[in-house]
Amino acid sequence: MSKLEIKSVSKTYGKVENQSSYVLKNINFTVEEGEYISIMGESGSGKTTLLNLLATLDKPTKGSIQLGDQSVDQMNDSQSADFRRDNLGFIFQKFNLLNIFTCRDNILLPIVLAKKNVEDYTAKLNDLSRKLGLEDLLEKYPYQLSGGQQQRVAAARALINSPELILADEPTGALDSSTSEKLLDILQDFNNSGQTILMVTHSAIAASHSNRVLFIKDGTIFNQIYRGDMSNEEFYTKIVEASTLLNE
Ligand SMILES: Nc1ncnc2c1ncn2[C@@H]1O[C@H](COP(=O)(O)OP(=O)(O)OP(=O)(O)O)[C@@H](O)[C@H]1O
Ligand SMILES: [Mg+2]
Repeated sequence: MSKLEIKSVSKTYGKVENQSSYVLKNINFTVEEGEYISIMGESGSGKTTLLNLLATLDKPTKGSIQLGDQSVDQMNDSQSADFRRDNLGFIFQKFNLLNIFTCRDNILLPIVLAKKNVEDYTAKLNDLSRKLGLEDLLEKYPYQLSGGQQQRVAAARALINSPELILADEPTGALDSSTSEKLLDILQDFNNSGQTILMVTHSAIAASHSNRVLFIKDGTIFNQIYRGDMSNEEFYTKIVEASTLLNE
């Protein structure tokens, strides 16, 4: 079964349904279980809007989204909240950390919300903290951290639950190249163990880790390229070529 099926999805934030107000226009694609997909496109092209729909944080104006065997359109608010808690890890573009909690408690929040035993996640927390260089930050509060540090805490929070579907909006946007590589390695490990990833990114280097890149332009899928058996370096070159086309 496909992990995600996006059928004829359009989205407008306005009440007036004139054609020009559509931020997404007739988007169609399918994501197979275990795929690692990047979404690229200019600022304002609709990438975050699309991720929010997939994350059940917002509803399409037209069209349908099927997540596994569930149709998002038919979920009520409490069902979609349960769905997010049980299946999704979301790394937001704005990190959405809670300033009243320490970083440790922010990372463990999905566990607490799922009413699971926090103790069972100590090893996972330590592992992610080590890999993301967060060990000295766990007792601090988000407002005491730099943007890149907050982004790493947000990544740890999204991954603590080992979610089946990871949605990441510019997860490396605030990180330097060596920290980006660490986060990309972690995402790669998750994908190698079967988790499905959709990642919005402006970075061709980050995208070269995935298996397919969707290019969005003006709210439609303009192009998509598959890695096939290319190395990261070869795929990177292809992505840069395709990005040039996008900007013409
Ligand atoms: N809540 C909202 N209400 C009204 N318009 C919105 C809202 N959110 C986004 N938009 C508009 O929808 C369009 C697409 O925005 P979106 O955030 O999806 O872009 P994006 O591709 O993620 O851009 P970026 O790369 O800058 O993050 C933009 O023109 C934006 O102004
Ligand atoms: Mg965005």
